[in-house]
Amino acid sequence: MTFDLQKIVRPKIYNLKPYRCARDDFTEGILLDANENAWGPTQSDLSDSSLNRYPDPHQIEFKTALANYRNKSSTFKNYNHLPNLTADNICLGVGSDESIDAIIRATCAPGKEKILVMPPTYSMYSVCANINDVEVVECPLIVDDNSFQIDQVKATEMLRNDPLVKLAFITSPGNPTGARIEIDRIEYLLQNWDNGLVVVDEAYIDFCGGSTALLVTKYPNLVTLQTLSKSFGLAGIRLGMTFANTDLARILNAMKAPYNISTITAEHGLKAVQDHNLELMEANVKKLNEEKTRLLKALTAMDYVDDQYVGGLDANFILIRINKGDNELAKKIYLSLATKSGVVIRFRGTELGCQGCLRVTVGTEKENDVLIQKFKETVDELTK
Ligand SMILES: Cc1ncc(COP(=O)(O)O)c(C=O)c1O
Repeated sequence: MTFDLQKIVRPKIYNLKPYRCARDDFTEGILLDANENAWGPTQSDLSDSSLNRYPDPHQIEFKTALANYRNKSSTFKNYNHLPNLTADNICLGVGSDESIDAIIRATCAPGKEKILVMPPTYSMYSVCANINDVEVVECPLIVDDNSFQIDQVKATEMLRNDPLVKLAFITSPGNPTGARIEIDRIEYLLQNWDNGLVVVDEAYIDFCGGSTALLVTKYPNLVTLQTLSKSFGLAGIRLGMTFANTDLARILNAMKAPYNISTITAEHGLKAVQDHNLELMEANVKKLNEEKTRLLKALTAMDYVDDQYVGGLDANFILIRINKGDNELAKKIYLSLATKSGVVIRFRGTELGCQGCLRVTVGTEKENDVLIQKFKETVDELTK
């Protein structure tokens, strides 16, 4: 493997000089350098706050705490010798959605280069590719055996045969499949393709563990995306994290809008990665996973719901199949639940390998009780 980042990143971006401001050098004193409003915010209830000031573009304290947590929580025993992650391995985005867009813009020349996605998967990769005039090629997940793993051999072959593909997106755990991708399969791709980056989207990783984030110090062609939107319960603040080898992380940081992470987001993010809140996150994940088992048991015990869930149980949702793949009934259940019972789940029956499937996010105990009851009533009504 002869990985050369310069060949992967678009030349203008590889050579980009980041935006610099006086605040990079001086942060204290009478600050009249950035055309802020020194008189403060106009709302009276914000008069004490620092919101009239631009936020810190670097967020080193948050990144360091996050890196420390990922170093500690690694579950790959055979990688204990790897160097620790530091703040220099991280770039922050306005949710993973911004990180997805950034990595596409950094690597793919519009109208020319391509990304590879593995359906059924998260649709934003294709949406961002389309917005950037980047073509999308597909290597489906293995759906016949219900495992929804990646076909790493076929994907590698496709990638090696098409030098215009610059990124391969893997969702682990998958959405809508809920299945974590086996690490050996991801490493196969990392070890056998050096003409682009393998992007592992780990939005749901804390619900099962086994993050690849630490491996960015081993594989320069790996990018791991995470978010505070799921396990941390902070979708509203919009904070996504990209882990990469330091050279690539430097480029991504140079490329981002300098003030993309707001002061309010940064404050909440920093609290989330304090030790006691990390413990709380882990405890909440444990409870949620117990609820997931209860919900699954109740739903799969019902008539017209297949016994076996689809995909995996590694995220904060489950995918169930209605009546051996009955899209018509599944769609009716979805619509009736939303319009008559006020319970909104997601119809996924048109996704590859997901015929007749509904995706149900695990709610609170009370919400799940309502869902279970309404689901049963709805199925009874529609099938009587
Ligand atoms: C696989 C996957 N990646 C990324 C995201 C978006 O995350 P964020 O809220 O950080 O933009 C989602 C949201 O549903 C997701 O399912």
